[in-house]
Amino acid sequence: MRVTMIGTGYVGLVSGACFADFGHDVVCVDKDKSKIEKLENGEIPIFEPGLEALVAENVKAGRLSFSLDLAASAPEAHAIFIAVGTPSRRGDGFADLSYVYKAAEEVAEHMNGYTVVVTKSTVPVGTGGEVESIIRRARPDADFSVVSNPEFLREGAAIEDFKRPDRVVVGAEDERAKKVMRELYRPLFLNETPIVFTNRATSELIKYAANAFLATKITFINEMADLCENVGANVQEVARGIGLDGRIGPKFLHAGPGYGGSCFPKDTLALVRTAQSHEAPTKIVEAVVAINDERKRKMADRVIAACGGSLENKTIAVLGLTFKPNTDDMRDSPSLDIVPALQTAGANIRAFDPAGVNEAKELLRDIEYCEGPYETLDGADAVVLITEWDEFRALDLERVKSLLKSPVMVDLRNIYNPAEMAERGLEYHSIGRPASKKA
Ligand code: UGA
Repeated sequence: MRVTMIGTGYVGLVSGACFADFGHDVVCVDKDKSKIEKLENGEIPIFEPGLEALVAENVKAGRLSFSLDLAASAPEAHAIFIAVGTPSRRGDGFADLSYVYKAAEEVAEHMNGYTVVVTKSTVPVGTGGEVESIIRRARPDADFSVVSNPEFLREGAAIEDFKRPDRVVVGAEDERAKKVMRELYRPLFLNETPIVFTNRATSELIKYAANAFLATKITFINEMADLCENVGANVQEVARGIGLDGRIGPKFLHAGPGYGGSCFPKDTLALVRTAQSHEAPTKIVEAVVAINDERKRKMADRVIAACGGSLENKTIAVLGLTFKPNTDDMRDSPSLDIVPALQTAGANIRAFDPAGVNEAKELLRDIEYCEGPYETLDGADAVVLITEWDEFRALDLERVKSLLKSPVMVDLRNIYNPAEMAERGLEYHSIGRPASKKA
């Protein structure tokens, strides 16, 4: 099938490359000239493991190309995907749909013959209907269907998530559109991936409900972690103890500094606003949003307490800045709250991140950026671990101890064992587990 993908962000680029890998002819279109030029030169504008090779293979096979011009591919396309950004609207937190609606207008201008227009961007309930009206108004005689097909891939595991998803959700209102969608996802049908066919509004809501539920799960375990600290319990064991119950499940029960990223913060807020405006407020999600915001702001207090109550003239080594490992994405990362709060408390900051430093430099000022973890620790008063990159999981603890002025580690991701840290002579503070003093 011939596919046009509008938008070459995470979702657009990964979906485009994976559809090409399924054997379809895909053209990815973007207005950003420098992005398209980079892609045409084989450069990938985002950090995503495996994506460069996947794009290169499919370009070489002639199934994947990039273009600035929607008019060149849209008239021939069987399906046109809208995968543009839906950021939080400044001021009110509603999803900003201006890019989606602009794309719909352009699709109306260029499509030809029966076309399935698919919204892959995360869009609030009713957006598919509005896309349909925009196209219908511009082209009353056009032959098309509008389908919702939300994407559930995670940054850092995007290709695997796209190609081996837990499920595919398709919100389609007619049989013709369903047939096209079935054909597009044929390799997944053959793998027996569950494909949930439903109506458009339900499909749109499934995406928000999924992200809000996961954000709620994380927030729940974060609150349990706080309680564990006050009663001498261990949150990892609580997570295991409840997660083994098949009704609860073990995933997304890692306590930490609060969720971040380009999706959960914006989507939970958008769901709250949609629900309020439809007079069915989601009080649980409202609480999740407030608790998570506060949690991120309060994380720095743990570092201050671990350093004896004051950071005046102290140097703090920060390991990890991105919102999670295997991405260079800094959007809504807990580090954006934690680092400035440490600076306000008087600390000098040295920091290292394996992929996020370029983005971080735009957002976090007055920091000494280092080349690796050990350089960062050299002469610092304490280390705080914000992102659980693999390369921080097996640090040489003797070296850590000898580099730090005092052997204090605040681990906001629980990647070390408190008893072992005590044995090694480190004062170790983590989340939801008893702190360990050096032996
Ligand atoms: C999330 C969803 O997991 C994807 O299914 C969805 O497609 C995507 O949003 C989206 O809507 O586009 P992503 O933002 O890439 O994916 O990252 P996650 O792996 O879900 O992590 C989000 C945040 O939650 C991170 O800050 C992470 O550190 C935090 N988290 C996650 C925890 O604190 N604890 C956990 O147990 C899991």
